[in-house]
Amino acid sequence: MEDIEHIEKEMKLIKADGRRLDGRKADELRPVRIEAGVLRRADGSAYIEWGGNKVLAAVYGPREAHPRHLQDPARALVQCRYNMAPFSVSDRKRPGPDRRSVEISKVISEAFSAVVFKEQFPRTSVDIFIEVLQADAGTRCAGLTAASVALADAGVPMRDLVASCASGKIDGVVCVDLNKEEDNFGDADCPMAIVPRTGEIVLLQMDGHLTYDEFQKAMEMSIGATHRLYELQRDALRRRYSTTLEDILKESPPVPPPPMPESELPPPPEDDFGPEGI
Ligand code: CDP
Repeated sequence: MEDIEHIEKEMKLIKADGRRLDGRKADELRPVRIEAGVLRRADGSAYIEWGGNKVLAAVYGPREAHPRHLQDPARALVQCRYNMAPFSVSDRKRPGPDRRSVEISKVISEAFSAVVFKEQFPRTSVDIFIEVLQADAGTRCAGLTAASVALADAGVPMRDLVASCASGKIDGVVCVDLNKEEDNFGDADCPMAIVPRTGEIVLLQMDGHLTYDEFQKAMEMSIGATHRLYELQRDALRRRYSTTLEDILKESPPVPPPPMPESELPPPPEDDFGPEGI
């Protein structure tokens, strides 16, 4: 135990030039790529690669809620299941739900509950599945950001997309989007999710300690990051639904083959009712 504490104290996460170990500046996000509509069987889906994170999100519904006693006669339920694949982390993760995944599923459900027009779909449920295929810290934010695109892909009416990013403190410096090393050996991590159009915060958690000023700075950084993510989310949806002239040409009916020269035409069929036929 003492050895671990010693390593943690010795571990430098910010280099002399002020950059982080992966070369990023304090307010720099890891590379993010989002793809919408990646699964054929789900009503809506999305895939996100965010630094070392690889996460799939699938959405079903609104569909009749089961079991029936869970149905709300006034509105839809928004239910999320966040799951980490056993191979997503360096030490094999035991399959199935654990305390952490139950907590993450709950906070993500609540975040989407705030934006989905639930009153339009009484007695139904909107089911969101988040599968973490590869984890490198920030998986709840990546999952939430992808699930938001999947909800839009499924056509679920919402006030807006939700974008999510964490900020935290490493070596006493407030930074955005901590990676695994920074999450493990840093001082604090504060994931949040916002509705970019209104600035409303629909998820806010904190692991570690931040002063009031540090928290303000972390929040500013996360809000800045969520605006960048919002653009990527909308781009993914635009790519999925915009039709280019090239697509239309690809889908146009095949051109009929040119007529055959007469000499190659097969002889006409014999007429049953010809002069010799009767
Ligand atoms: O992933 P997120 O930052 O939302 O949640 P966390 O509980 O702060 O976990 C941080 C990281 O720890 C995860 O992204 C994984 O890389 C790692 N982790 C792990 O290696 N094994 C687990 N059972 C859970 C998390």
